[in-house]
Amino acid sequence: MKIVILGAGGRLGAALMREFRPKYDVVGFDHAQLDLSNLEGLREKVGATTFDVLINAAAFTNVDACEIERDRAFRINAEAPGVLAEICNEKDAKLIHFSTDYVFDGEKRAPYTEEDQANPISAYGESKLAGEKNVLAAGDRHLVVRVSWVFGPDRPSFVDAMIKRAQQDEKIDAISDKFSTPTYTHDIAEMLAGVLDDWSRRAPGGLGAGRLHGILHFANTGKCTWQEYAQWALDCCRDAGIPLKARTVGALKLSEMTRLRQGSGGQAPWVARRPVYSVLSNAKYTELTGTAPRAWREAVNDYITRFYSKK
Ligand SMILES: NC(=O)c1ccc[n+]([C@@H]2O[C@H](COP(=O)([O-])OP(=O)(O)OC[C@H]3O[C@@H](n4cnc5c(N)ncnc54)[C@H](OP(=O)(O)O)[C@@H]3O)[C@@H](O)[C@H]2O)c1
Repeated sequence: MKIVILGAGGRLGAALMREFRPKYDVVGFDHAQLDLSNLEGLREKVGATTFDVLINAAAFTNVDACEIERDRAFRINAEAPGVLAEICNEKDAKLIHFSTDYVFDGEKRAPYTEEDQANPISAYGESKLAGEKNVLAAGDRHLVVRVSWVFGPDRPSFVDAMIKRAQQDEKIDAISDKFSTPTYTHDIAEMLAGVLDDWSRRAPGGLGAGRLHGILHFANTGKCTWQEYAQWALDCCRDAGIPLKARTVGALKLSEMTRLRQGSGGQAPWVARRPVYSVLSNAKYTELTGTAPRAWREAVNDYITRFYSKK
């Protein structure tokens, strides 16, 4: 199976490159090698490459910048995925396109399923939803994978920022009224490998007939707030013998975020609205593959013991 990964320099794309190289024939393009905002360049470069599966992990992911640079957000997150899907159709290849929990408005209080109505409340969410629609309109054999709160060793995320702050300060806090599920890039790679194996098992000599297509949610199991996530990370650090100044994480309200960011370290305030609740149900993935993703606490512990103990 020949795989091309776009966004190979990003948090998820770099993890997929590393995890898939031993298993598949993989080629990656990072931002410098391929700019998704140049649709003609995309047609030329991706069109000239041979593959069975194209994985798009590239995106304009700065949620606040998307609010300001709306046109750019739609070109990269919506138009480009549509072009990629068309290129895949021409090659009889499949596209796996990554999307986000931010397509939902966050009003629900139970995990979002693939059948739930999307209703984004930010330009980022709107552009990503338009990207999903463009991909699936081009062909129903393609797969849109929604993920949330992604963490891993290839690019710092919330959990790394919290650990760094806890190493510097005695008092740290995090939002206690926003819910989702931290999801490890290593686990996303494993889940995706399950999909690829299903595709190749079901279509010997080709990749035409897999069951896994349309929209699928990939998430570790469980849910938490940012405060609970950060507290668990500190607890794991303590158990792993990693020295920290802070031991507990204080609670911060989402509504306080703008004021506090303005008043702390010159950080820009949030521009975009964020969904309060964006837990993704992994029930469909579990049913289709027969494998349940592990709990987020186990995944975070694994990440910290594997990557922080060495530092
Ligand atoms: N991180 C999360 O918590 C999260 C949550 C939900 C969904 N997702 C989705 O998961 C996917 C992977 O995200 P991630 O966490 O790996 O984010 P990331 O670390 O920001 O990676 C995105 C990659 O896309 C590249 N990129 C940006 N603009 C581009 C352009 N015009 N052309 C080509 N490449 C471009 C970035 O390169 P530069 O950095 O050089 O610009 C970066 O390498 C995205 O689809 C994202 O929407 C992520």
